[in-house]
Formats: sequence, C-alpha cells, structure tokens
Amino acid sequence: MRSRRSWIVVILMMLLCLLMEMGVYASSRNMHSDDQHKRNLLANGLGTTPPMGWNSWNHFSCNIDEQMIKETADALVSTGLNELGYTYVNIDDCWAELVRDDKGNLVPKKSTFPSGMKTLADYVHSKGLKLGIYSDAGYFTCSKKMPGSLGHEEQDAQTFASWGIDYLKYDNCNDDGSKPTVRYPVMTRALMKTGHPIFLSLCEWGDLHPALWGDKVGNSWRTTGDINDSWDSMISRADLNEIYADHARPGGWNDPDMLEIGNGGMTKNEYIVHFSLWSISKAPLLIGCDVRNMTKDTKEIISNTEVIAVNQDPLGAQAKKVRMEGDSEIWAGPLSGYRVALVLLNRGPVRLSITANWDDIGIPNGSLVEARDVWEHKTLKTHFVGNITATVDYHSCKMYVLKPIS
Ligand SMILES: *[C@@H]1O[C@H](CO)[C@@H](O)[C@H](O)[C@H]1NC(C)=O
Ligand SMILES: *[C@@H]1O[C@H](CO)[C@@H](O)[C@H](O)[C@H]1NC(C)=O
Ligand SMILES: *[C@@H]1O[C@H](CO)[C@@H](O)[C@H](O)[C@H]1NC(C)=O
Ligand SMILES: *[C@@H]1O[C@H](CO)[C@@H](O)[C@H](O)[C@H]1NC(C)=O
Repeated sequence: MRSRRSWIVVILMMLLCLLMEMGVYASSRNMHSDDQHKRNLLANGLGTTPPMGWNSWNHFSCNIDEQMIKETADALVSTGLNELGYTYVNIDDCWAELVRDDKGNLVPKKSTFPSGMKTLADYVHSKGLKLGIYSDAGYFTCSKKMPGSLGHEEQDAQTFASWGIDYLKYDNCNDDGSKPTVRYPVMTRALMKTGHPIFLSLCEWGDLHPALWGDKVGNSWRTTGDINDSWDSMISRADLNEIYADHARPGGWNDPDMLEIGNGGMTKNEYIVHFSLWSISKAPLLIGCDVRNMTKDTKEIISNTEVIAVNQDPLGAQAKKVRMEGDSEIWAGPLSGYRVALVLLNRGPVRLSITANWDDIGIPNGSLVEARDVWEHKTLKTHFVGNITATVDYHSCKMYVLKPIS
C-alpha cells in the first residue's frame, strides 16, 4: 500500500512539474510577445535625431490661419532655415471648428482654414517641408475652442493620415480623469494603424514622468509645464528636463518645450543660453517666433550650424549638469567621435571665471584637447590638458566642442 501511494505521489509531482513548466513556458512566451509588441509600438522610424521646425503657439497662440502658415513655410525656405534642418511646420491649438461634422470628423475652421488641411499639407510638402498638427487626449483642447481626440482616436488618426500630416502634438487638457498612461497609448496605436508615419509628441507636461514610459508611446515627451518668454521660465525648463537625461535616445527625446528665441522677452545672451542648453540637451528645436519677420540676431542664433550639429549628433546622448558651484554650472555630454559638448553657464548677476575639469566631463585625465568655440566659430590656438577655463558674462554661456588629440 505504502509503495503504491508513494508511486502515486511521484506521478502527481511529475505531472505538476510538467504543468508548471508548460505554464512558465506559456507565460515567458507571453512576456516575450508583449515585450515585442511594446517595443514595436513606436517603431515608426521617426525622430532618430531631435525634430526641428516651427510651431505657431509661442508667438501666435490662437491667432492662426492658413495664409500665415503658408507664409511661414515660404519664410523657412527663403531664409534657408529649411536647409539647416528646420522642416516641421507645426500648427498648434485652435485650427478646428468647435463641433465635429455629422460623421464625427474634425473640421478645419472655415473662417481661418477655408482651403482645408489636405490642400495646406500639399502646399507645405511642395516646399520640401512637413506639416504638423495638434490635438488633445481629452474632450476639448486647452483653448476649449476645438474638440480633443479622446474617444475619437482612430477616426482622428485616419483623418490626419488622409490629409498627409507628418507630426502630431498631443496635449493633456480636459480629460476624463484617467491617467495619461491610459489615454496616450490609444492614440499611439491609432497612428500606427494608419500605416502613415506620424511623429508623436506627447505634451503631457511631465505630470506622470513620461520620460519613464514615453519611449513606448511617443517620439518625444514634455518634461515640464509650458515655457514663457523669460529667463526664469527658460532656465527652469532646462533644469527640470535635465533630471531625465538618461532616458533620451534616438527615436525618443525629452522635451523642455518650444523655443522663445526672437519673441523679445530675453537679451541676446539669454537667447544664446536658451539655444545652447536646448541643443546640448538634445531637445526638439521648434522655433517659436515669427520667422517672416526675424531680427538679424534671432536669425543668427537659430542658424548656428555648429550648435545645431551638437543637437543633431548621431550619438543622441543628452548632456547633464556635471558640476554646480554658486551661479556657475558645467553641462557636458558625449558626442560621436569621442568628442564632448560642453556648456559653461553663468546664471548669476556678475561676470565669472568658470573651469571645467576633464575628470568631470568624461575626458581621460591626461588627454590633450582641442577646443572649438561654437559661438565664436573659432578653434582655440592653445590645446588644453586637464581643464578649460573661460570668463563668462552675466546670464551667458560659453559652448565648446572638445576633441581629444593623440
Ligand atoms: C513665466 O514663468 C515664470 C517662471 O516659471 C513665472 O514666474 C512667471 O510668472 C511667468 N510669466 C508669465 C507672464 O506667465
Ligand atoms: C516685425 O518685428 C518688429 C520688431 O522686431 C515689429 O515692430 C513689427 O511690428 C513686426 N512686423 C510685423 C509685420 O509683424
Ligand atoms: C584626475 O585628476 C583629478 C585631479 O588631479 C583627480 O582628482 C582624479 O582622481 C583623477 N581621475 C582619474 C580617473 O585618474
Ligand atoms: C588646469 O590644469 C592645469 C594643467 O594641468 C593646472 O596647472 C591648473 O592648476 C588647472 N586649473 C584649475 C583651475 O584646475
């Protein structure tokens, strides 16, 4: 009896093991396919470097129309900004009628976009540029002047694709109380389903730390609330965005909001800091001024090809603050070819001497280094060992590309 019972126990245990193994196998297979599914969510091939272009909000807010958008596209071409990489022409809030049509479609506002978005997209594309549009993961957009896409994701994604839209900024106002991690992926899947690659910019304001989940959902994610045209706002966006530096990579970028350069609220040096920090932080470079009517200084800042090249470097590594002492800060990040991008930032009210040590910025201690000043457009004659020092004005910065030489 005893031996028969122990045989039964052995057989039962073997069966149990078999079942468990099957279960483990099945769940590991599920995990595997889930994982792949997630990884594929935003395999849209876009954003291999941070997006560059223009957006209507910072300068025009709701005062937009198709004529202005067309003139902006023309200006991006006539100024040569398109050739520097500024290719997205992005329409922000307020482009649609408050009420959908009887089939539930979004309708471009008849008084301001009478020709419709397909015609506008065709025009923008004919200039070699791309057209971006705006919606919201809620019932209305932030202006409350047009509907959001919550509950209409598939229909709206199809609409955008049918118009030939290339970029969607997706805002976070007037929602149903559910989490962004629930509402945003619905639009991601809807866009993927159209088969038309559309860059997805998550404008979630950093509320639920989108740097931690955004790469599965969008090509960029806001890490902060809205910027405004002031030093305090600009520099605090850069600070908040820096926290998430490790999460930026080709295909998915931290977004400290759009540029204010040229809108008049900061000094030239402050705008140079703005462009330097956005560049070294691998932030989207979306011009926010009236490009039809830029000053010489504005155009010079946003046209700096050496600073743009830092932003567009194929390595795609976001810089970090590596040292802070009083009002002086050192921001550094690796570039391709063993180079290092460096910003020496003076946040204070008086001129300062700032030194960056190799040890802090990821250059081997003994290295001899060639320094390119990317605002002066000069390769410095002296080579540097161990550190580099510069005098930096009030609310200003120096920016270098450092190249170790053997
Ligand atoms: C701009 O932002 C700063 C800092 O975030 C804030 O103190 C200021 O009130 C804002 N200004 C306007 C006009 O909204
Ligand atoms: C162009 O910009 C200047 C200031 O830079 C401003 O005074 C002028 O009104 C602007 N013109 C138009 C047409 O917006
Ligand atoms: C590099 O040099 C600095 C200053 O001389 C020193 O503190 C640091 O330990 C050195 N780092 C390495 C990795 O040797
Ligand atoms: C910079 O490096 C040089 C050469 O190694 C050294 O003599 C100097 O003390 C360093 N300066 C600072 C401020 O660390």
